[in-house]
Amino acid sequence: MNVLIMGVAGSGKGTMSEKISENFGLKHISTGDMFRAAIKSQTELGLEAKKYIDKGLLVPDDLTIAMVKDRLSQDDCKNGYLLDGFPRTLPQAEALQEIAKEIGKPINCVLNLVMPFDTLAERITGRRTCPKCRAIYHIKFSPSKVDGICDECQTPLIHRADDSVEQLKVRIQEHEKNTRPALEYYGRMGLVKDINAAQSIDGVWHDIKSVLESVE
Ligand code: AP5
Ligand code: MG
Repeated sequence: MNVLIMGVAGSGKGTMSEKISENFGLKHISTGDMFRAAIKSQTELGLEAKKYIDKGLLVPDDLTIAMVKDRLSQDDCKNGYLLDGFPRTLPQAEALQEIAKEIGKPINCVLNLVMPFDTLAERITGRRTCPKCRAIYHIKFSPSKVDGICDECQTPLIHRADDSVEQLKVRIQEHEKNTRPALEYYGRMGLVKDINAAQSIDGVWHDIKSVLESVE
């Protein structure tokens, strides 16, 4: 099974992806995580991507598509992939359609996390992430056992550089302007399953699990 998970910043894509990949054995590929890793290693791609990410803007399509094409052709995607945060524009969606055809791995389901914008700020400002294993926490909704330390690998947690209310506004605008058309593209194919992401973590997971069990 090959799945996309879409939704505005803070809607819970990363949180649900951890659960989906563990339960359904899909390879979790987050373009945001890939860009952050490239920024950390100061590669050419990372330095270029940083200019956009720091402002909350989308990284240009050509860079993003080339990165995903390369990643999806690797061996660990052969039992199914879960794309988190890609595609985010109509050209990316069209390119993915081609890539999926080339590698013989068509998309089976698009999970759309639906969330009112006025509650996103609390999720984003309270988020803490592990820079090493990428586990996601929230100071109120999903705290680590020891404050500021990752449960999985004991690394000090960080607050992401783009997690300010100012950048969140830009990320929401980018989503509405650029990602909405990609979502509509999949809607026309009948692949989209809307998920109410404004519930508790367990509630959202329950709904996603039943949708994916019916797709499998
Ligand atoms: P990316 O890393 O993908 O960021 P994003 O889409 O803005 O989404 P987030 O990771 O911020 O949120 P999420 O939905 O994963 O929520 P999470 O599970 O962490 O992209 C970053 C940047 O990279 C982009 O802005 C862009 O510049 C660039 N980029 C990436 N992909 C690109 C592409 N395809 N094209 C061009 N540019 C691209 O949850 C948030 C918090 O809420 C956490 O603290 C969590 O614990 C908590 N939480 C989650 N679910 C619940 C719940 N149900 N109840 C209570 N709390 C919850
Ligand atoms: Mg994420």
